[in-house]
This record gives sequence, structure tokens and C-alpha cells, in this order.
Amino acid sequence: MQHADFAETRERHPPWVIATLIHAACSVASFTLAAHAPGASWVWLEGVSAAILGAIAGLPVWWLPINLLFVPAAHALLGLQLPAVLYPAAFCILFAVNSAVWRHRVPLFLSSAKVTARLLTLLPQHAGFRFLDLGCGTGSLLADLARARPDGSYHGIETAPLSFLLSRWRAHAALRVTWGDFWPTDLAQYDVVYAYLSPVPMARLWDKARREMRPGSLLISNTFAVPGVAPAYTLPIGDRLRSTLLVWRM
Ligand SMILES: C[S@@+](CC[C@H](N)C(=O)[O-])C[C@H]1O[C@@H](n2cnc3c(N)ncnc32)[C@H](O)[C@@H]1O
Repeated sequence: MQHADFAETRERHPPWVIATLIHAACSVASFTLAAHAPGASWVWLEGVSAAILGAIAGLPVWWLPINLLFVPAAHALLGLQLPAVLYPAAFCILFAVNSAVWRHRVPLFLSSAKVTARLLTLLPQHAGFRFLDLGCGTGSLLADLARARPDGSYHGIETAPLSFLLSRWRAHAALRVTWGDFWPTDLAQYDVVYAYLSPVPMARLWDKARREMRPGSLLISNTFAVPGVAPAYTLPIGDRLRSTLLVWRM
């Protein structure tokens, strides 16, 4: 397959589909190869070839260690002979926390305490302001903000079931959490809309924000830029994740 064909495949299929196909091909090839080369480890052959093919196919750089270690790690785990029920249980927990990865290409990771502290300086001065966290994860950010500024009203929307339950557990009169997809929600009712998502939805989010958000309200993205739209200002946070807040005044 030529590089141009790989690029076209990447446009049409999500990364996990490409990775699955690469691993299927590499597993068969390295297993067959190792059968004819005594002493060769098929699992490492598989890992190295999958990592190289993944890079050629244009998978994001963070797929490299995943592709390299996936089969060797799975092989080592099987060697431990853990109870079989652990595997579907682990899958269910991962899925319940990260189900947005499949549909929306956004995994769960949480805003740092330094981001929370910086966000507090950006909140409107007036009481009763409305803050929305698009994909609120476990609700920790909202709970911390609400503790520090109890005069505001906070709303989080989360689609992953387990994360939603955790954030719902943190809800109170001034902190509302809704289960589901945030895309149908009208952004006009909020003074500040916060997003910590991934590069994938940012262009669509910008279109939505431009259509719906009121003049003067703030759109804040943690780390991820809107392609081709410069923010009013950026605030490097200096945390371990090297977060940056990008702020647009609508
Ligand atoms: C990177 S985490 C950020 C969590 C939280 N906002 C924070 O800053 O700590 C992104 C979250 O957005 C959720 N998410 C992604 N797309 C979503 C959508 N369309 N509707 C609702 N939740 C979504 C994911 O399940 C994930 O929990």
C-alpha cells in the first residue's frame, strides 16, 4: 500500500479501526515468520512491526507505545492465568469510563488543580453566572469551582455512564449534572463554556459556539485549539500536563 493510500484510509476510518487491522495483519505475519525462525519472539516482532506500520499509516504519535506494547502485554497477562472473568470486567469498566472515545474521539482525563485555580480568575464577577462544562468527566472540576465560588450556577454534561454517576454523586443545588451528548444543548444560556476534549471536535464546537453563545460570553478550551481561529488570549498553566487555556470572547 502506498503512503497516499494510507492517508486516504486514515481519513475514512477512525484510528482504532486502522490499529485493529494492522494488529491482525502483523499477528499473522509475525507468528508465521517466527515459526520458521526458532528463537524469534513473535510477540515482539508483532509489536515492533505494528508500531512501525502505525506510524507509516499516520496514527497520532501516542499510538506508538500502544502498538508496540499491546500484544506483548496481552501475552504476558495471559501467562499470569488470572481468572477469566477479570478480562470482560476490566473491559466493561474501561468502556463505562471512556465510551466517548468510540463515538466522539474524546478520552477521560481531568483538569489539573492549577487549571481550576486559573479558571477561578476568569469567572464573571457578578453572582448567579452560569458555567457549563462540556463533558464534565467525574465532576471534580465543577465541584472545586462551586466550592470556591458558590455564588455561581454550574452545569456538567457527561456521556460516559460511570463518569456520569460519579459526577452526579457530587451534584447539589448549584451543581447540576446531565447524562448524555452535549451537542444538542443550547449554549446561549451560559456565561462561560469550558471544554477539555481533543483536537477532533474543536472545529465543530467553534461553529456551534459562534451560532449560539451570547456576545460577551467566554468559550474556554483547555489545551486544544480551534483550527484557524486565534483565541483572544492564551494562558499557559505550568502544570504537569503542560495545559494551556485558550480563551475566546464571543
Ligand atoms: C478530557 S475529559 C474532561 C473532564 C472534565 N471536563 C475536566 O476538565 O476534568 C472529557 C470528557 O468529555 C466526555 N465527552 C466527550 N464527548 C462528549 C459528548 N459529546 N457529550 C458528553 N460528554 C462527552 C468524555 O466522556 C470525557 O469524560
